[in-house]
Amino acid sequence: MITIPYLTALTTYFSYGLLFAFGQFRDFFRKIFDWWHASNLEGYAPICLGLEDFYTRRLYLRIQDCFGRPIASAPDGWFDVVERYSNDNNKTLKRTDKISRCLNLGSYNYLGFTAADEYCTPRVIDSLCRFSASTCSTRVEGGTTTLHKELEECVANFVGKPAAVVFGMGYVTNSAILPVIIGKGGLIISDSLNHNSIVNGARGSGATIRVFQHNTPSHLEKVLREQIADGQPRTHRPWKKIIVVVEGIYSMEGELCKLPEIVAICKKYKAYVYLDEAHSIGAVGKTGRGVCELLGVDTADVDIMMGTFTKSFGSCGGYIAGSKELIQYLKYTCPAHLYATSISPPAAQQIISSIKVILGEDGSSRGCCCYSCFPCHPTTFSQGTYLHFCLAHQGRPS
Ligand SMILES: Cc1ncc(COP(=O)(O)O)c(C=O)c1O
Repeated sequence: MITIPYLTALTTYFSYGLLFAFGQFRDFFRKIFDWWHASNLEGYAPICLGLEDFYTRRLYLRIQDCFGRPIASAPDGWFDVVERYSNDNNKTLKRTDKISRCLNLGSYNYLGFTAADEYCTPRVIDSLCRFSASTCSTRVEGGTTTLHKELEECVANFVGKPAAVVFGMGYVTNSAILPVIIGKGGLIISDSLNHNSIVNGARGSGATIRVFQHNTPSHLEKVLREQIADGQPRTHRPWKKIIVVVEGIYSMEGELCKLPEIVAICKKYKAYVYLDEAHSIGAVGKTGRGVCELLGVDTADVDIMMGTFTKSFGSCGGYIAGSKELIQYLKYTCPAHLYATSISPPAAQQIISSIKVILGEDGSSRGCCCYSCFPCHPTTFSQGTYLHFCLAHQGRPS
């Protein structure tokens, strides 16, 4: 159960309200006194007008130095942040030569693998020399190296599914896969706090989207019953397929998915389960295999297992793991596999090596030690708590 800090929420909304009101006020006067200053090319419709433009000019630009600061080192527990200055009220920022050493509360890096690692780093450097930084090709042309094959086997084995396919970006994994596995006539039932990549993937699929209250299995069941009874809009034909999309750990809340209950409901109503383990894979479970391992859910009951390599593995990219038929189908049809450059070989090697460390296959006991000494129950974890855990272990699982 999340407790809402009402005072903080109220003062935050009040500050935003104040900035919004002043912004509107200033825009109003600008229109009156500056009317001859056309803000766009003559004869063209404005390209960036609307609430986003207003938000950027009047709210974001004022505080933008808090965000997007250039980093001058690896995203370890402490990192080097480049100082900037502005001569035009923060509209533009210029870099200085000054660097501040800061405590890093912003990067994922849950297990500290982005720092130089005695096992991973030499192997990543070797792979860079052997395969180069990029394959410069899609997976189906020249972009499948032996490392890609090894990585897919390694991921499938790690998450407990027969097969897996990997992509160069976690975000794209969701947004490109959902439109391939479901379309018009299908129904996606999505947790209300699902990540934007899922939202965009669902929208792009053309399927009907319904949302259930965050992590509330009883509401999911209610939505499923109503939708199955109603069928497709207008025709009321049965849905071609139903997919329920949830996350293993919700990143902004640090909250664990009620997966056993959700899986039971999906089985009852014959809906597929799509589980995004971006924040849970590698981070929870007795051997780091994610929420299924932690909550005692059989991976055979989760039809589509998705995850990213940016959080626990210190790399980049994403994966889908599932049945052999599903993965083969994705490899034949998914545009992110057919038309996008494959994951960079050193990034693939980093994932393979970090999984080996987690599983204790590197010849050390670092992996097992990491999970056996988690200090508290993972339901209380938030992104920050993970990080504190990692920092307490000098930025790596040892
Ligand atoms: C739940 C979830 N899915 C997908 C992604 C996208 O992953 P990536 O950042 O690796 O592209 C994120 C990013 O944080 C996420 O939180």
